[in-house]
Amino acid sequence: MGLNKVYCMDNLELLKQLPDNSIDLIYSDILYATGGDFKDYQDIPYVKEDVFAFYDGRIKEMYRVLKPTGTLALQMDFRITHWVRIMCDEHFGYKNCINVIQWAYSSGGSSKKKLSQKNDEIIIYAKDKNKQKFNYHTEVSYNRDFKPYKFKGVEEYQDDFGRWYTMVGMKCIWTDIPMVGRSSSERIGYMTQKPLKLMNRIRDLYTDENDVIADFFCGSGSMIESAKLGDRQYIGCDINQRAVDITNERLNI
Ligand SMILES: C[S@@+](CC[C@H](N)C(=O)[O-])C[C@H]1O[C@@H](n2cnc3c(N)ncnc32)[C@H](O)[C@@H]1O
Repeated sequence: MGLNKVYCMDNLELLKQLPDNSIDLIYSDILYATGGDFKDYQDIPYVKEDVFAFYDGRIKEMYRVLKPTGTLALQMDFRITHWVRIMCDEHFGYKNCINVIQWAYSSGGSSKKKLSQKNDEIIIYAKDKNKQKFNYHTEVSYNRDFKPYKFKGVEEYQDDFGRWYTMVGMKCIWTDIPMVGRSSSERIGYMTQKPLKLMNRIRDLYTDENDVIADFFCGSGSMIESAKLGDRQYIGCDINQRAVDITNERLNI
């Protein structure tokens, strides 16, 4: 099984064929267990036993194939995160749960009966939290027209207009990345396509150039394209031939 390829097969079968300690980042936007028909694929049912049966062996293999410095990033929504975390705790060790990122996007549709849940969760596990690769990022928050109070560990800078900004460590709630909308130039025609900006941020946090990124549920190949654009090596996998064809088109293969 080589690098820089997209495999059309069941990801469990592919995982079993990959060597131990060979991947830097596994990112997968997994099946959310909605039971729904997404045109290109059928989701698994929203049944606890089915979710455990489907994911347990795959998460075990994901742990095996990650390098000791490696990271697992699994994206899903709130209805199954707690179950998937139980399996990750089991195979990775609960102390290696590093973060739960909330990606909040806006899209139509709201309910008068409950809050509208327009966010995905991306759970981050290290194979070993003491060895995990992590590229510290900062974000800028606008401060005010005069120099802010100096807090330990907080960087500041002044722009050309004399306004002060504060550099703060990136937090786990991401609200600045829209979903791939109907009129987006990124849109490829795969129902569950994720935005490149989201992929690039995850890529940059946990990998460097030439590192290996695997997406075992790659769909239209958003993370695979991000890996190629960022000069990373990649392994893509999807059970659906149309997904693999779209991914290869995005890679110009
Ligand atoms: C949520 S979608 C991924 C979407 C992707 N992030 C994108 O940007 O287009 C999940 C994908 O997992 C694939 N899939 C489902 N079961 C699979 C399996 N056993 N092995 C490999 N891929 C599978 C589906 O065909 C689907 O494309």
